[in-house]
Amino acid sequence: MSEILVTGGLGYIGSHTVTCLSEAGYDVVIIDNLSNSMLDTLDTLRELCSGTITFYEVEMCRQEELNAVFEKHPNLAGVIHFAALLQVNESVQQPVRYYRNNLDSTLNLIDACAQFKVSSVVFSSSCTVYGQPEMIPVDESAPIAEAESPYGSTKIMCERIFRDACEVLNLNVLSLRYFNPIGAHPSAKIGEVQHGEPHHLVPYITETAIGKREVLKVFGSDYDTRDGSCIRDYIHVMDIAEAHVAAIGNLIDGKTTGFDPINLGSGTGQTVIEMITAFEAATGLSVPYVLADRRPGDVEKVYANIGKATSVLGWRPTRGLEETLKSAWVWEQRQPAN
Ligand code: WQD
Repeated sequence: MSEILVTGGLGYIGSHTVTCLSEAGYDVVIIDNLSNSMLDTLDTLRELCSGTITFYEVEMCRQEELNAVFEKHPNLAGVIHFAALLQVNESVQQPVRYYRNNLDSTLNLIDACAQFKVSSVVFSSSCTVYGQPEMIPVDESAPIAEAESPYGSTKIMCERIFRDACEVLNLNVLSLRYFNPIGAHPSAKIGEVQHGEPHHLVPYITETAIGKREVLKVFGSDYDTRDGSCIRDYIHVMDIAEAHVAAIGNLIDGKTTGFDPINLGSGTGQTVIEMITAFEAATGLSVPYVLADRRPGDVEKVYANIGKATSVLGWRPTRGLEETLKSAWVWEQRQPAN
């Protein structure tokens, strides 16, 4: 069966995508440097998946390590590239580390694809490339903003690198711009692993609900929105994962040539307070919160126009907010107490 290379395949979105690739009948080759993931996720994936899953601990910033994987797998049908450092605030403190890691790994991947004649690449991008769009829902024709963080800059730069490489190489790239992925696999055996205090909203909600955190701070209540808190587009990670299977299939079938960006969101926007209320309604739990100052770097409101994902990939999200938040809660309950 066709083999797909998944870089960063032990991470949050990568691991969920591996389950969907396997379900679609692909064999999967995962490379990961374990900087933001755990090896026991591999055992869980092998438990969840029927297809072959091969793993290599690889530092993609070392070209020879990456090439060795391509040499061992000469028939790769395509690559899904998740591997990246992705903590927005950490990127502000460590910009050079973020540029070197996220750009070198991508440049090395392009070189390996050219050398070993792999022409189909799905790239993990982000709605962060839009900054605060003029028009919402935002579509892929919106201008690329000045990044709010080095992390955001690396996503913008990697898209540019792929776009230029596609012009001169036999390379076709679908760049999937995620909005806010949340939730966990229905088995609750994989999900978004937290290392220390959560940065993102939904893990903070679930940790507050379970008692790990005293109170949730709502960062900003004076925005120009329904209730003053920020609006985002939250989407089940399994919907995101399924879109990656559709995207790699589209490329393998030769339906996309060159570089093409595609939004992956629910197409709807919720405020922070609406998310808290929705979580409480979905679980019957209460989430104590306080209104706090705005968080630097946050945009006020953004949610996706997903018409292109539907027309190009034949994809649309199928999981509603209640199901998604419940999956996050079930995952939280399986995490260690401390
Ligand atoms: C969502 C909203 C916060 C925590 C990030 C990345 C983005 C993409 C998705 C990768 C904001 C508010 C949060 C809290 C809060 N990731 N909030 N209290 O910042 O929209 O996007 O994840 O591609 O690149 O930046 O997600 O979950 O951090 O915040 O009020 O304790 O929740 O202010 O309005 P964000 P988030």
